[in-house]
Amino acid sequence: MSSVTIQNPGASLEAIQHHYDVSNEFYKLWLDRACTYSSALWEEGDTLDTAQLRKIDFHIENSRAKGVDRVLDIGCGWGSTLDRLVDKYDVRQAIGLSLSETQTQWIRDRKNPQIQVHLESWSEHSPTEPYDAIISIGAFEHFAKLHQTSQQKIAGYREFFQRCHQWLNPGSYLSLQTIAYGNSKPEDFSEFMANEIFPDTDLPRLSEIVEACEHLFEIVTLRNDRACYERTCRAWLANLKQNREAAVRLVGEETVARYEKYLQVSIVGFYSGKLVLLRMALRRLDRPYRPLKRRQG
Ligand SMILES: C[S@@+](CC[C@H](N)C(=O)[O-])C[C@H]1O[C@@H](n2cnc3c(N)ncnc32)[C@H](O)[C@@H]1O
Repeated sequence: MSSVTIQNPGASLEAIQHHYDVSNEFYKLWLDRACTYSSALWEEGDTLDTAQLRKIDFHIENSRAKGVDRVLDIGCGWGSTLDRLVDKYDVRQAIGLSLSETQTQWIRDRKNPQIQVHLESWSEHSPTEPYDAIISIGAFEHFAKLHQTSQQKIAGYREFFQRCHQWLNPGSYLSLQTIAYGNSKPEDFSEFMANEIFPDTDLPRLSEIVEACEHLFEIVTLRNDRACYERTCRAWLANLKQNREAAVRLVGEETVARYEKYLQVSIVGFYSGKLVLLRMALRRLDRPYRPLKRRQG
């Protein structure tokens, strides 16, 4: 089941830590109670907490993970999906990958024997047993570097899908959530986001994801929930503003102002459709593709 390590085609460890290792206490001031750092799934009457749980439940159901043995969460953040898998969905073992030191330490400190977390990229992961389901929420955004050509990005994404295919049991599902370029191109985006918020990182286009997973996964469902991300960013920004003084004490005025600007830019991006939020259920194709033989005559 193990795999050969390839060079991570996406954002480096340093780039990821630049963003995610600012301070756990800082993120706790404006994320939901479980520190989920990706778009929630909103319905009428939701709070940020309930909308985040709805999103996690959606992916657990999408990946058919209820009651299974082993689930991999690629880009597990502070572990809210790992917790939910073992606490509410009877999963025996939940394994998370993250490139953030503070996130992995935070999860280890909770000492849940059913949860394992590795400080490694998916490109270094080498499991000894297969998985029954894979979930990846809000990490695919980091799987390509800025200024790569579309063909280079597709090659990196294909490597990711090949790994997932190799690690999954036959008939199993990958549930994927990612931001993607919508009615826009990379050059429309500000240097500010690339240099100061998510260095070394570039977003996918839907067409690149589709090409990269072809003949490895069947796309079973696909939704664009960009309004959900707009609302999530609004909720995060409101929380940050409400806790501004505490945030400035923790990380300083400059960092808080930078995060406020990043959330405002994101709200406009999702509102205008320049950014979209994709949620996909992908079923592993169990038979490798073979061209149909043409009948003679
Ligand atoms: C926006 S956070 C999302 C966290 C979590 N899934 C959630 O929804 O709360 C992105 C996560 O992807 C992880 N990540 C980024 N690049 C990665 C890579 N190459 N391999 C594994 N994890 C990666 C980061 O460390 C971080 O945990």
